Amino acid sequence: MHSIDIDTVEMTLDIMKYAINRISNTSPELSKPKKEEELLKIVGETVTKEGIGGEKAFQLFKDILVKASVPVDHPRHLAFVPAAPTRAAVLFDLVTSAASIHGAYWMTGGGGIFCENRAMEWLVSLTGMPEGTFGVFTSGGTAANLSAIVTAREYWRSLDDNHKKLKGLIITSKGAHSSVKAMAQVIDADLITVENHDEHKLTKACLEEAISSLSDFDRSRLFAVVATGGTTNAGIIDDLKGIAEVIEQEQLWFHIDAAYGGAALAAPSVRHLFDGIERADSVTIDPHKWMFSPYDCGAIIYKNMELAKNAHSQKGSYLDIFKDEGAQGFNPSDYQIQLTRRLRGLPLWYSLAMHGTERYTTAIERGLELANHAAKQIKELPHVELIREPGLSCVLFSRIGWSPEEYMEWTYTNHDKGFALVTPTKWTGTDGEVTCARFCFINPDTTEVDIQEILESMQ
Ligand SMILES: Cc1ncc(COP(=O)(O)O)c(C=O)c1O
Repeated sequence: MHSIDIDTVEMTLDIMKYAINRISNTSPELSKPKKEEELLKIVGETVTKEGIGGEKAFQLFKDILVKASVPVDHPRHLAFVPAAPTRAAVLFDLVTSAASIHGAYWMTGGGGIFCENRAMEWLVSLTGMPEGTFGVFTSGGTAANLSAIVTAREYWRSLDDNHKKLKGLIITSKGAHSSVKAMAQVIDADLITVENHDEHKLTKACLEEAISSLSDFDRSRLFAVVATGGTTNAGIIDDLKGIAEVIEQEQLWFHIDAAYGGAALAAPSVRHLFDGIERADSVTIDPHKWMFSPYDCGAIIYKNMELAKNAHSQKGSYLDIFKDEGAQGFNPSDYQIQLTRRLRGLPLWYSLAMHGTERYTTAIERGLELANHAAKQIKELPHVELIREPGLSCVLFSRIGWSPEEYMEWTYTNHDKGFALVTPTKWTGTDGEVTCARFCFINPDTTEVDIQEILESMQ
């Protein structure tokens, strides 16, 4: 298993050939999953006492299993938050595994962590947060949000012994991602969701109102506000500047979940929408969404790294050496919930180093351009209706006269044909909650013709 023999050489060549073919394929088949029982019937047992051999296992993967999964980078995959990792980043993901570096501590991961830190500097610079701000790469937005809020809670508890006995309280917007609610559950905090109904966002006034209507007891356990820098459903950015003003007055922790939208900080056409982000205590940005990194790559950025370290640094006699002078350096594990970690920021670093940040700006602007183009096309067509102007790269629109079941049918039909993956969502407007269709543009290779054909498929 650990020796190098002819099987290893053949396997290496097969895998490299597959990787090259896949990476250079500009229109992968838009395949879809089968049921697990069905797959088991087709491929049979793959994990056996003697092993089935690398060639057979890989053949099954290539011929059957990969075709029972959806390629996230298909140009007509516009559902959820798709992805489109750069070829450089994907290839460097292979290098990251091959290099076998433990990315938790500088003592073992120094050179790799150095690279991650250069990519992190760029992310931090996009936020405009003050000197001393820094961050670490996490497995994704959920882990980043959780790391931030544990830091916030530990800081709050450190301020007053009475806080240690209280169940914390967080205010967030109705449009906040489900991971914010999940995170509150994990840390056993209560969550209040508020929003300005007309603007569909958390604003200064509604935050002030929510705080002033709290009982004295609830106010004493309120420790954080989580705003969103681009809601997943509609790309809406909360009133970050207004929220910052309230938070500074109330002395709360200000976390901004910009997991999806944060990439747009690099897009001059919409950068102003994020004004106020520089006043946050912590910000989540997911490079594996709109910054073209392969999974898993999220990032958490803190204004005060020491507070994150106080919350997350793990202790154990076998870890003591990392505190020694001889092993000093930046230790990513001190700032988020995970100890052993892959150097998941490396693919982003390599792609940034290769292409430069301007190419990122261009590719992110392309997502915004596609969203605006889609909105324009929708307005011109008689059978569809734009629900709201695009929020970042998200476009919500309805097919006039369709029931929720018809949206589902349309989604499945297009997916079955291998034509497109566009899913329905819900939107609450002046007429109450309606089912509608949603585009989320990430892949710069999506074309205007793709959009036109998808809209035509609704006729
Ligand atoms: C705004 C927002 N926050 C958090 C998340 C969760 O991120 P992840 O799926 O990387 O854990 C998402 C995912 O879509 C998101 O859009």
